[in-house]
Amino acid sequence: MGIAVLTMKASVTELFLVLLVTGIYSNEEITKKSKRPKFTVPQISCDVKAGKIIDLEFLVACPAGCQEPSYHVYGSGVYASYSSVCGAAVHRGVLGTSGGTILVRKVAGKSRYKGSYANGVQSLSLPRWRESFIVSEGKPQKDVIYPSALTYSSSKSPDAKAGETTKAYQKPSVLGATAQPVTLPRGSVAEATYSALPRPSPSAVSTAGSPRPQPVGHRSQEMGTQRQDSLGSAFQKLAGADVSLGFVPKEELSTQSSEPASQGDPNCKVDLSFLIDGSSSIGKRRFQIQKQFLADVAQALDIGPAGPLMGVVQYGDSPATQFNLKMHMNSREVKMAIEKITQRGGQSNVGRAISFLNKSFFSKTNGNRGGAPNVAVVMVDGWPTDTVEEAARLARESGINIFFITIEGAVESEKHYVMEPNFANKAVCRTNGFYALNVQSWFILHKTVQPLVKRVCDTDRLACSKTCLNSADIGFVIDGSSSVGTGNFRTVLQFVANLSKEFEISDTDTRIGAVQYTYEQRLEFGFEKYSTKSDVLNAIKRVGYWSGGTSTGAAINFALEQLFKKSKPNKRKLMILITDGRSYDDIRIPAMAAHQKGVITYAIGIVWAAPDELDVIATHPARDHSFFVDEFDNLYKFVPTIIQNICTEFNSQPRN
Ligand SMILES: *[C@@H]1O[C@H](CO)[C@@H](O)[C@H](O)[C@H]1NC(C)=O
Ligand SMILES: *[C@@H]1O[C@H](CO)[C@@H](O)[C@H](O)[C@H]1NC(C)=O
Repeated sequence: MGIAVLTMKASVTELFLVLLVTGIYSNEEITKKSKRPKFTVPQISCDVKAGKIIDLEFLVACPAGCQEPSYHVYGSGVYASYSSVCGAAVHRGVLGTSGGTILVRKVAGKSRYKGSYANGVQSLSLPRWRESFIVSEGKPQKDVIYPSALTYSSSKSPDAKAGETTKAYQKPSVLGATAQPVTLPRGSVAEATYSALPRPSPSAVSTAGSPRPQPVGHRSQEMGTQRQDSLGSAFQKLAGADVSLGFVPKEELSTQSSEPASQGDPNCKVDLSFLIDGSSSIGKRRFQIQKQFLADVAQALDIGPAGPLMGVVQYGDSPATQFNLKMHMNSREVKMAIEKITQRGGQSNVGRAISFLNKSFFSKTNGNRGGAPNVAVVMVDGWPTDTVEEAARLARESGINIFFITIEGAVESEKHYVMEPNFANKAVCRTNGFYALNVQSWFILHKTVQPLVKRVCDTDRLACSKTCLNSADIGFVIDGSSSVGTGNFRTVLQFVANLSKEFEISDTDTRIGAVQYTYEQRLEFGFEKYSTKSDVLNAIKRVGYWSGGTSTGAAINFALEQLFKKSKPNKRKLMILITDGRSYDDIRIPAMAAHQKGVITYAIGIVWAAPDELDVIATHPARDHSFFVDEFDNLYKFVPTIIQNICTEFNSQPRN
């Protein structure tokens, strides 16, 4: 009670300050009130994803039919902005199947979205996404001006980028604000308040006028950060007082406080950590060059809460955090912090430092945003004194994109000192040198600044451990019925081998399993059985023709149980079913079970196969997942198409 009174007292003073600051503009705004344009609700189609729309709060009209499963929805209640806006509204129960108007509001990204079935729509789960939205009935709130035309993200891949351009999750203009941005003197106190101020309550509007949200992408790096911080916290306290005074809805506060200002390059939203070499062998001079390099990168990056964040870990015998992701929120401060780093000395235990990254550095408490890709740049002078491959693999599998910069690597006569030859290439993803940079001499390291910045900011390519060729568990379900015949069965196995050849196969990349079926089913080999491509191809060759009936439904169930149940959670599950005839048993329920378990199913039918059955077995849309071939000898023609479809589908999926 005593505390509440104190807070209120402090807050009243702050409220007074705010009124003073914002009051300056109230006159101007009152005169423009009458110029408010007439409002029409913009329309969108069912397939428009929230991330494509830049506006943070809007009314929108949806057409009929948005409950179709092809309009994917991720989450329940709070939806990832990768979802169809209208589809989410049907799922939420605020939009009927005949369409209508809804209200959409963007909120911060989440680390987990749970799928559920509601109002005829099955929504999907998603581990995390940069931005979310909530939907409610299309009743305009009083005092809020909604856009009558929506602003769409113009980026080439709008779904991946849209979240990066909308940072502040603030309310749109409140009644009384002008349609044009208010220009403020740069660096003025008023400018600072505009980014940190919670939306005033309707009751405050009439007296104070209302601030507009800051233009997205605005930079105020030059501004005294300390002053901004103290103002920011003062306003947060003010927001707290608002609750006790009862005039700001609670849920607005939670979204306000998480995203105080819009700063930094929104086209490069990454959580970036540098692992710098502090071992004794590097020497003072080169350590200094390394620091200069870091400072140059920090300068080139335009660091800020809406753009890249940067932290530094120094390794020697053991790793130590110099500063984490949230300690310094702009380039200037990061550079100052880099200047203060002193060399630790010791060995060059890079592998140990990489393990440290995943276990502690990239944790939420250290400022990991979840909604931004995790990137680690490892600087190595010479070579490490421990091994890196395994630590790097584990880190990659938990989503950290690892770059290696090796400087003055071992020359021929030194190579026998290196305990893990070719360590840099083993530590990074195998993508044609994208993640590994080798620099001949410390004195030309500065030339690497721009290439590195370009790569770490290329968020579309930062899918390190995940590509369409190295991230799946693929189960072949092969029809061994009598109608196939021995010769054709060999052709089918060739086809299975030719498809398998296209993937990167290992225990951590793509894994292959196979089931043969007639009336009965037989596990030929599971996902764990082989971990090299040649072993897999040999195993396919050895599959013996069984001969019998065709129970395709039972075979699908068997594959789910014997193959896919043992699939790893971080793998994409692909089932490729090959049949030459109509099934004797029901395929509908097993197929539905496969789809519900997230197994992406391709159905390949030959000669006597029933196209209608193939379409039911295949994942929606059937035209991408269902194939019919008139004779066994033409099977080979479909290999490239199937690979291409698998990759197209992979690349269209949300990834962080
Ligand atoms: C890395 O971190 C993630 C999330 O905290 C965790 O699930 C995973 O097991 C960690 N991996 C390793 C190798 O420590
Ligand atoms: C498999 O690949 C080989 C070699 O490219 C080719 O000759 C053969 O026709 C292919 N067969 C099938 C069924 O894909």
